[in-house]
Amino acid sequence: MKKIRIGILGYGSVGSALVELIGVEHDAIAARTGLDLEVVAVAVRNITPERLAALGADVLTSDAKAVVADDEIDVVVELIGGVEPARRLILEALGSGKPVISGNKELIANVGAELFVAAQKSNVDLLFEAAVAGGIPLLRVLRESLVGERIKRMMGIVNGTTNYILTQMSENGAQYGDALAEAQQLGYAEEDPTADVEGGDAGAKAAIMATIAFGTEVFAGDVYQEGISQVTADDIASAAHMGHIIKLLAVVEEIDGEVSARVHPAMVPDTHPLASVRNSFNAVFIEGEAVGDLMLYGHGAGGNPTASAVLGDLIAASANLQRGISSGLGKLREARIRPMGECISAFCVHVTVRDRPGVLAEVAGIFGEHGVSIRSMEQAAQADIANIVFITHPSREADVHATLSELRGNSSVVEIGSVIRVIAPEV
Ligand SMILES: NC(=O)c1ccc[n+]([C@@H]2O[C@H](COP(=O)([O-])OP(=O)(O)OC[C@H]3O[C@@H](n4cnc5c(N)ncnc54)[C@H](OP(=O)(O)O)[C@@H]3O)[C@@H](O)[C@H]2O)c1
Repeated sequence: MKKIRIGILGYGSVGSALVELIGVEHDAIAARTGLDLEVVAVAVRNITPERLAALGADVLTSDAKAVVADDEIDVVVELIGGVEPARRLILEALGSGKPVISGNKELIANVGAELFVAAQKSNVDLLFEAAVAGGIPLLRVLRESLVGERIKRMMGIVNGTTNYILTQMSENGAQYGDALAEAQQLGYAEEDPTADVEGGDAGAKAAIMATIAFGTEVFAGDVYQEGISQVTADDIASAAHMGHIIKLLAVVEEIDGEVSARVHPAMVPDTHPLASVRNSFNAVFIEGEAVGDLMLYGHGAGGNPTASAVLGDLIAASANLQRGISSGLGKLREARIRPMGECISAFCVHVTVRDRPGVLAEVAGIFGEHGVSIRSMEQAAQADIANIVFITHPSREADVHATLSELRGNSSVVEIGSVIRVIAPEV
């Protein structure tokens, strides 16, 4: 039986759940893997009587640096979040030959490349399954089961807060502000919800998804981000009328060697597997060349689900450490990040026009002039105006924007309403 001495940085939602899980599952893990996991140090900022009672004075410390430097510790688990001091602590641990497990999306999406090099140099693991979609095994599936697969595209619902808000808006007709307030009350949304609702959290996850799926360096700053704060109850009702549900998607794609990574709301057809992902659940839909379509679904956050993902990494890294090997990412390739204007999306465009003869042909003609072809159109007349909803075929984003800009300047057009991307009904 090989003893693995673990140092954990952080004892919050995930750190405390991890300590408990290791305690409960210790014997089963030992029987299955031959590893005797022992938590020998837990670093926090504040030592409280409750934490001392739970962990003991030998284990609890406020000195994270000492944990990382301790020669008696075999593996370090970073669960403090943020870029610094997590980055410095992880570099120190890797530099001294300790494998590191992290759940820190912000860190990996911003400075991951530097950390991957450090891990490779020391021939130890840096694993971060929990950083994307919490408890869902996604990164290991990409790195192992699908390592020989050419991934064409992945679309993920990777932010539980926004999925909860959109589900409430869809199922109960709630307005955005009310659904957000309810999510805050239930603890699904932070007091400052910006990172969730404006797409920053999902953007960091998209960067990591693209890095692992395509073997390229993609950083948080490379990801186009549009959140859900502009989505209205009317948009949701109109999408439902057309057989769609609005979801916030993280989309990563490889096209001719280039990579696109983006986060935006999208109308998903009712028949698509992603449409069934409700409330705070997460899911990632993977389109592979040989494997076809598959979807991974589960809890994207929460102490226990996230600790489960961390524990899986911890056992994998410990087993590798024993064998003196590591499962690095290999050499990451530099790929051009395709600018959003060059990406291809179908759009749903709401246009209000003056209801006079020939106006429909005039407006449709503007789409055509810019090379945007129309898949369907629905018109509702109302006194002397008409509301038209166009759904386009997949088109270059820049062409759609040029169309919108010309429509805005057209004297027959009263208003351009909401403009939302649409996922093609190919499933
Ligand atoms: N919670 C989730 O559902 C979830 C899901 C996926 C990924 N993650 C990721 O997992 C990580 C941990 O999340 P969490 O929700 O457990 O965070 P959390 O509840 O805020 O806990 C953070 C812990 O880190 C400690 N800490 C912060 N800075 C420290 C420092 N400089 N030295 C020592 N300890 C320090 C804090 O100590 P004090 O309490 O004493 O301040 C606290 O115990 C984050 O990277 C997060 O993004 C979380």
